[in-house]
Amino acid sequence: RQPEVRTVAGAEEKVKGNGRGQRGEYLTTATGTRLYETDHSLTAGERGPTLLQDHHLREKITHFDHERIPERVVHARGAAAHGTFLANGAAENICKASLFASGARTPVFVRFSTVLGSRGSADTVRDTRGFATKFYTDEGVFDLVGNNIPVFFIQDGIKFPDIIHAAKPHPDREIPQAQSAHDTFWDFVSLHTEATAHTLWNMSDRGIPRSYRMMEGFGIHTFRLVNADGETNLVKFHWKPAAGVHSLVWEEAQIAGGVDPDFHRRDLADAIEAGAYPSWDLGVQVFPDTEDEMFEGIDLLDPTKIVPEELAPVQVIGTMTLDANPTNFFAETEQVAFHPGHLVPGVDITNDRLLQARLFSYLDTQITRLGGPNFDQIPINRPHAPVNDMLRDGFHQDGVHTGVAPYHPNSLDGGCPFMASADSAAYIEVPEEVSGRKGRQAPASFDDHFSQARLFYRSLSPVEQEHVAQAYTFELGKCYEENIKTRNLGILANIDAGLVSIVAGGLGLPVPEPTEPLSDPELSPALSQVGAEWPVD
Ligand code: HEM
Repeated sequence: RQPEVRTVAGAEEKVKGNGRGQRGEYLTTATGTRLYETDHSLTAGERGPTLLQDHHLREKITHFDHERIPERVVHARGAAAHGTFLANGAAENICKASLFASGARTPVFVRFSTVLGSRGSADTVRDTRGFATKFYTDEGVFDLVGNNIPVFFIQDGIKFPDIIHAAKPHPDREIPQAQSAHDTFWDFVSLHTEATAHTLWNMSDRGIPRSYRMMEGFGIHTFRLVNADGETNLVKFHWKPAAGVHSLVWEEAQIAGGVDPDFHRRDLADAIEAGAYPSWDLGVQVFPDTEDEMFEGIDLLDPTKIVPEELAPVQVIGTMTLDANPTNFFAETEQVAFHPGHLVPGVDITNDRLLQARLFSYLDTQITRLGGPNFDQIPINRPHAPVNDMLRDGFHQDGVHTGVAPYHPNSLDGGCPFMASADSAAYIEVPEEVSGRKGRQAPASFDDHFSQARLFYRSLSPVEQEHVAQAYTFELGKCYEENIKTRNLGILANIDAGLVSIVAGGLGLPVPEPTEPLSDPELSPALSQVGAEWPVD
């Protein structure tokens, strides 16, 4: 949006961007005073000291000194693009959100990222990728903050600092940058076996995507959708790339990363600039909203579990196309703030305790990262729906609020804003029955840490399985502590006998015995059919 341009003394003014800081013909100070010189400090004599009174020097340097903001504590490195989501109407019967109405077009901004590396790290590392989408709907902002891997490392958000501390570079040497090949990572995942399925996905080709354009995306958690009649369903969100799912092989990733550490960032921007717009279908797996929140024996509140598509097919509900690069990386890609709690009427959360912790974490971190509580007013974060909140003041307040009564109830300013009816508002909690003893606890189903890792490994083609074995051998080979390697071999023994013997051979260590049966007798009949005959795409 271009601001109104006031001309000075009849002169035609040039406006760039949104006009802030780039208006008019002449170089000025931040307060609009024209400058005649910007290359020399004000000094006493040709060879003398610089004078404190040089406002232009001090302003220029001081602003520069504060140009950087903290990088994201995770997902620091990313690339983003603008686009549109077009709904096909298939979700209308399960969700009342206007963005899913047939033919609805919603502007989106999508940021892809690696998880562990810093802002300047390479794109091509073995890591999970973030896939975060901001839908600017006419009912408010909806953020789908997902990853390219459908399972997560942990079941409970209270463990997030642990997994991230373990996976980030060692605190003493600050290496390795964005590789999982180090002792702390492998130490943690060997002691914390609920990470097994995610680690296996990471060691598969999914951990080194060919392009952001060729990745699937997953909401991971189970969400609750509500339709116009108030009926609810549980769903998992999936993005399916039109370009198909493709990965680099390890050697390609090493060469690409060496030649061009911006490999994925460049690929996304170049494709869009060339008019080869990336697109994805958005789909949902739908499950009945039963009291136990289970499906075919799979706990829908456990984010370390998927539901195989053979058991619950993905139903396409719309298509997203990215067709514009950001104008300014900092203003858009860096300042965008996603939040899993940004919901619209018809989309609700579940009791997944990983999701529940995320609801706290994102806003909290963004208050630091983006300098106070008003970052929703930054252009990239502004909703396209009208905002009428009672939030006031704070650092970087850009609004000039009128009236005297930002509180509820009030009788001044013409009274309070109207409250929406329950069926047109968000955050209408489904009145679930909740009971139980207070305690730090988890359901028994959360103890199954290996069946899904086995399911995933079985689904891979022989060459993909070979890549997994090579990845484990390489990454564990980088560990200094032998007992960490040995403990991880113990985990692999619970996944597949062939896999553990190749990796143990590569590391020159003995092959351990499994500590639990590899046959998954506990799986439901339908689930135990899934795996061996999965097509490989
Ligand atoms: C950032 C995904 C779990 C805390 C992100 C981003 C993605 C993401 C995609 C980058 C957003 C962007 O591009 O700006 C996920 C997924 C999770 C998960 C899919 C699990 C299913 C968690 C948990 C926590 C957490 C459990 C903490 C309890 C954060 C924080 C950021 C972040 C602090 C940085 C946000 C910012 O600075 O704007 N996450 N995350 N995440 N995540 Fe998560």
